[in-house]
Amino acid sequence: MTGGLVTGGTGKTGRALVQLLRGNGVPLRVASRTPSAGDPAAVRFDWGDPATHPAALRGMDRIFLVPPTHSVDPMPLVGPFLAEAERLGVRRVVLLGSAVVLPNAPGALELAARVRARPGWAVLRASGFMQNFLRPHPLGERIRRHGEIRTAAGDGRIGWIDVRDIAATASVLLADPGVEPDDRRDHLLTGPKALSHPDAAAIIAARTGRPVRVVRIGTDEQAANHQAAGMSAEFAAALAAVEDGIRAGRDDQVSTAVLDLTGRPPRSFAEFVQDHATEWAPRGSSGRRGVREAPARHAGRRG
Ligand SMILES: NC(=O)c1ccc[n+]([C@@H]2O[C@H](COP(=O)([O-])OP(=O)(O)OC[C@H]3O[C@@H](n4cnc5c(N)ncnc54)[C@H](OP(=O)(O)O)[C@@H]3O)[C@@H](O)[C@H]2O)c1
Repeated sequence: MTGGLVTGGTGKTGRALVQLLRGNGVPLRVASRTPSAGDPAAVRFDWGDPATHPAALRGMDRIFLVPPTHSVDPMPLVGPFLAEAERLGVRRVVLLGSAVVLPNAPGALELAARVRARPGWAVLRASGFMQNFLRPHPLGERIRRHGEIRTAAGDGRIGWIDVRDIAATASVLLADPGVEPDDRRDHLLTGPKALSHPDAAAIIAARTGRPVRVVRIGTDEQAANHQAAGMSAEFAAALAAVEDGIRAGRDDQVSTAVLDLTGRPPRSFAEFVQDHATEWAPRGSSGRRGVREAPARHAGRRG
């Protein structure tokens, strides 16, 4: 059997990708630590348990790679997995990497370089996810509970991307590993426009009728928030420090990669908000009050 192994297959990006690849008739293995009992393609896969890797890899000729989350150094777990994938002759690996570089975490760059070095393999350097503004991400949770964004990024802008557009791009690269749709191996994936947190808050408020306050905090306070949400001190500090870079304009960039690879422009933040408008309603409300409904411009889009 040939087919695709989707790691992080039950996550936001993985779920959307599974849907697209299944629509294209690609046989799949959907990997996560807690495989769905109702999905015959689901396999148990844990980065921290290498004994689960061989069965997931067996017979697969392409892989969507979601590295371990909340880790400053993925290489000790992912390196041996990639070595095995190389040995088995996997033709395409598409890495879900990040446009944002965590300070003091060279392992993520090392991983991207390792994937990029292999002919036919590709790195997606995804910008900040629009879905961070939704639960269960702490940013989305806080908006929902308190109508508030706490950020150390000031007015720094990010080219936020909808994970559905990441999945659409990955599906083009994974649909047929024999086809090289683009000779580049590194793709910066962004939405159509870079926006600051205050810009994003204003769009959510305008589209949902719910005011969203932006509270500017320091990097140390942000690190403490991340730690309180369960991250290790090391990862919390690195993630908070990312906001220094955003504030300095380091992530103020947009690309045409989604359009170039999929033939469709990426969703705007306003479209994303429109598609999820009821999800920011305060707890206990019906979820509809104050929400202005409008037909989604991308109705009928795949993914
Ligand atoms: N958020 C952003 O702004 C952003 C930007 C750029 C890149 N990224 C990258 O995107 C990735 C996350 O993607 P996502 O948001 O689509 O995923 P997600 O919704 O956070 O879901 C994570 C997926 O990975 C699985 N998983 C978690 N821990 C695992 C482990 N130890 N072993 C095997 N599988 C595991 C989860 O399933 P189980 O829990 O059942 O195992 C789930 O399927 C991260 O690597 C992050 O660095 C995020």
